[in-house]
Parts: sequence; structure tokens; C-alpha cells
Amino acid sequence: MLVAPAWPYANGPRHIGHVAGFAVPADVLARFERLRGSRVLMASGTDEHGTPITYEADKEGVPPREFVDRNNALIVEDLRRLGMTYDIFTRTTTANHYRVTQDLFLKLYEKGYLVKKTQMGAFDPASGRTLPDRYIEGKCPICGFDGARGDQCDNCGNQLDPIDLIDPHQRGSNAPVEFRETEHFFFDLPQFGDQLKQWIEQHDHWRPNVRKYSLEFVRNLKPRAITRDLDWGVPVPLPGWEDNPHKKIYVWFDAVIGYLSASIEWAAARGEPDSWKDWWQNDDAWHYYVMGKDNITFHTVLWPAILMGAGDLKLPDEIVASEYLNMSGKKFSTSRGQVIHVRDVLERYDADALRYYLMIAGPENQDTDFTWSEFVRRNNDELVATWGNLVHRTLVNAHRNFGAVPQPQPLTEVDQALINEIEEALAQVASQLGQARFQGALKYAMTMAAKVNVYLGTEQPWHTIKTDRERAGTVLYVALRCVDNLKTMLTPFLPFSSQRLHRMLGYEDVIAPQPHVREFAKDGDSHLVLTGNYESVDRWRPSELAPGRALIPPEALFKRLDDVVEEEPPV
Ligand code: MF3
Ligand code: ZN
Repeated sequence: MLVAPAWPYANGPRHIGHVAGFAVPADVLARFERLRGSRVLMASGTDEHGTPITYEADKEGVPPREFVDRNNALIVEDLRRLGMTYDIFTRTTTANHYRVTQDLFLKLYEKGYLVKKTQMGAFDPASGRTLPDRYIEGKCPICGFDGARGDQCDNCGNQLDPIDLIDPHQRGSNAPVEFRETEHFFFDLPQFGDQLKQWIEQHDHWRPNVRKYSLEFVRNLKPRAITRDLDWGVPVPLPGWEDNPHKKIYVWFDAVIGYLSASIEWAAARGEPDSWKDWWQNDDAWHYYVMGKDNITFHTVLWPAILMGAGDLKLPDEIVASEYLNMSGKKFSTSRGQVIHVRDVLERYDADALRYYLMIAGPENQDTDFTWSEFVRRNNDELVATWGNLVHRTLVNAHRNFGAVPQPQPLTEVDQALINEIEEALAQVASQLGQARFQGALKYAMTMAAKVNVYLGTEQPWHTIKTDRERAGTVLYVALRCVDNLKTMLTPFLPFSSQRLHRMLGYEDVIAPQPHVREFAKDGDSHLVLTGNYESVDRWRPSELAPGRALIPPEALFKRLDDVVEEEPPV
């Protein structure tokens, strides 16, 4: 299985809205698949080209290279601390990525899918760089609204062309915009129109948002410019273009190719340079893309069309797109200071608390609001009161009274029924996860934890221990088996606490590995990547917790948080 999380722009540290979309769901999936024995490759990196980078770098007055170096390091750190088990998290500025992108560009060119055309482009006369549509403002030619953007008027909602704006100028300043003719390569998307439409329609299980955006998009396909007037990006690999400092490949064209180039880089770094083909030239591999909704058509139209054009590479199977995480109804916005950074949350709270919140209350199916009070409530009432409490009282009582997994007496019907139900939950949770229903899966597991709590509350082994030690031991044995099974189900969501629980249950191996930063060097090109050794062993099976196994003194898995005043982070 290829798990392909979208590539974050190297334009700043990640906020929790970003990682709710591309990161945590992808890691839950990768961890789950490895736990059930699938061979997983999770490959991605930072997206370091294009106007999203040059615009911000210019604003800070630093060269793009310096800007992306710094932000790549920040993002890698965010993702490492979140426990994202990338096999490779690399960058789009590597020599390998340039080569793979250029090879694919040339392949499409040679097959006649790229055409050269002249169009009108918007430029900043001062720097000579292209101005992206949304950085141009002016008066709407349709409704007369003064603050219309080059791509759309927020007043009347019409899609616009920047050249039609009245009195166009650059966003946030009165700097002029210059329109002039410029030559570019266009990717002939319409050639793939029927094939794309059929392919999208075939995938009738994709989430409604993915199908909707994609089908709308393919209804009206136009050739798409895949080069830009920019000095920062992958050079166009053709005579007359290659050395032109002002023409580069369009950032989205190179970014989606990153999935392939990162796989190739990973294979080479492991000393098995052909092993990327097990994923990309193998029909049995399953390709799973994870992203926020603004990325959908790039993954359901542009990237598949590139892959179709190449002819010998695997198309996506699953495209999982989240909606937006908002703050009091408004989009996260770094420029407006309306933002919660991952690193700030992780300064104060455990990664599992954040992962839990994002997976149970995140924007899986609709835009959702983040509030600190809901974060605290979910942590205290669910993570601590349901799961943490179950683990704690089971382990404390078993450890204190038996020091080991107790030897059970014959199980009662109630005991057996509970064990059966929890064991069957493994299949239920797996089936939900297999359909990218993360909230469904997590809620199911938490409901099961609540059931075991009810069982303990009824059986009260902490009282029975005084009168009927054997029955108390049996009840604790049943609860331990259930806890062990729930641990398996929750490991993809809560890797840090699950690993600690794994130890407390007396296991010595690793159930939830963590990534680390390493240097990848090749042909004089060296950069840092996030990587790790994550073995795939089939552990998604009922617990066989052996009676007599020694237990170590348990510690609390989660921390209770103090209640908060709305919108203030709790201390
Ligand atoms: N950098 C883009 C964003 O943050 C996502 C790129 S995904 C890839 O919206 F497919 F292009 F890699
Ligand atoms: Zn308008």
C-alpha cells in the first residue's frame, strides 16, 4: 500500500487545520495497515516551489532557498513530534526530484501531450515575476465591487480573469500590474477527458466532496499551463528553456510528481533502487491519497492525467479529503494571526491528546470549529475518563493484588460475552478504517472501552478482592484481555500512549514505532528526511495475554486538563 499524504508548502510551521487534513488521518491509516501486516510505503515531503513560496519569501526579504530551508526544518519537527510515520518525508528541491520531474515532463512532451502557446500574463514590473491571480485586485467588471480578486469577486461570486479587472493593482499595495504576452507549455488535459471522467465515475465509493469537485472539473477541461514566468522552480528541460532563468515548471506539476520521486529516493536510499516499482508498477499495490479539500482536483484530474500520459504508472485508488477546521467559524489564517500552531499545542499537551481531538472531532465530513473548551472536554471526558480510567483501574488493581496477569477461573457467560464483543470490535474497527471512516472507527473503539468500564463497575473487583480473590482475579483477567484488544484498535490513533500501555501490559517489543530525522546523501546532494523502521507484522488479532505474565507498575496514560475560558489555551 502506498500512503500518500499531500505535500505541505514550505511556507511556515504547520497549524492544526493543516495536520487535520493531510497528516493525522494518513498516519492513522499507515499505522493501521502495518498493524495488520500490509507492506506500507508512506512518502511525501515539503512542497517548496511556486508563488506560495516566492511571495512569502519576498515579503520577508529572504531568498527562496533560505526561506524553504528554514520552513522545511520547522515542518519536519512538527510532523516528527506528532508521530507521523513517514517512510520518507523529503523535499521538492532535491536533485532526484528535479530529475524525475524533468523526465516525466519530457515523456509527456515526446508523446505530444504538451503544447506551446502564447497567452497574456500578469507581471510585477519591478521584479519581472508572474503575479498569481489572487494577488491581483481591482474593481469587479460585473458588479463594480472595489476589492475583487483576479480569480474571483467575493461580492457577486463570479469567477474572473485578472485582465478584465478595472484598475488592477497588486494586493495590499498600489503597485501596478503589467499584462504582456508570454509563451508557455500547456498540458493537453482535454485529450484525457473521457478517460478521466470514466475513471472518476468508476470510483463511486469516494467521499461525496471528492466526487463532486472532480466531476464538475472534468466537465469543462481546458489545456492547462504547466510552466510559469518565475525564477524559482524546476527548470523546463528543453533547449532554449532550460537556461532561461525566468521560466520554470508550474509548482503543482512538480509537486504531485513528488509522490513518485520520493518513492524512488526512498528505494535508492535503502540500497534497493528498483523497489519503488513494487508500488508504482504493480497493479496489486493500493494507492491512498490524503489531503484537505482544496487539493482534490489536483489529485483526481491533474495527477491522474500525468500518470495516464506516462502510461506505465499506477493511478490513485483512494482519495480521502477532509473539509476545513475553522476557529470560531473563520478559516485559519497565518496572516491575520488567527492560527493555532502544532508546535505550540505540543509545547503544552501530549501529541495523543491532539491526535485524538483531530480524529474524533475534526473536519472528516464537514467544516468544524476548533475550540479550546471542546479540546479540554474531549480530553477529560473521553480520553481520561473513559479510556484512561479503564486502563488505570484495571492495571492498578491487577498489579497491586496480583503483580501479574491473574490466572482466571472458568469464565461466566457475561465474561465470555464481553471478551467476544471486544474481539469482534477488531473487525468492526478494521472495516470502518478500511472505508476511511476514522470517526466511526474511533467512536466504536471508545464505546467498547465504555462497555468494559460498565463491566468493571458491576463486578467491582476492588471490593470482591476482599471476599473472593479468585473471582476478582478472573474479572481483572477479563478486563486485561479487553484492554489489550482495545490497545490494538487505538494504536493507530494514540501511538504514544499505546506504546506505554503495551509495556505496562508486560510486552517488551514495539507496537507503535516513531519516526526520526536522518540525513540522505547521494551524489553530493544531501538533505534531512523524516524516516523510520516500521515493521509490518500482523498484530490485528485477538489478544493472547498469558496468565502469569508479570505486570510493571502502571502510570497514568493521560493528563487531566484544567477547564478553560473560551478561546484561551489552558495552562
Ligand atoms: N502544497 C499543497 C498545499 O499545501 C499541496 C500539494 S500536494 C501535492 O495545498 F500533491 F502536490 F503534492
Ligand atoms: Zn463582482
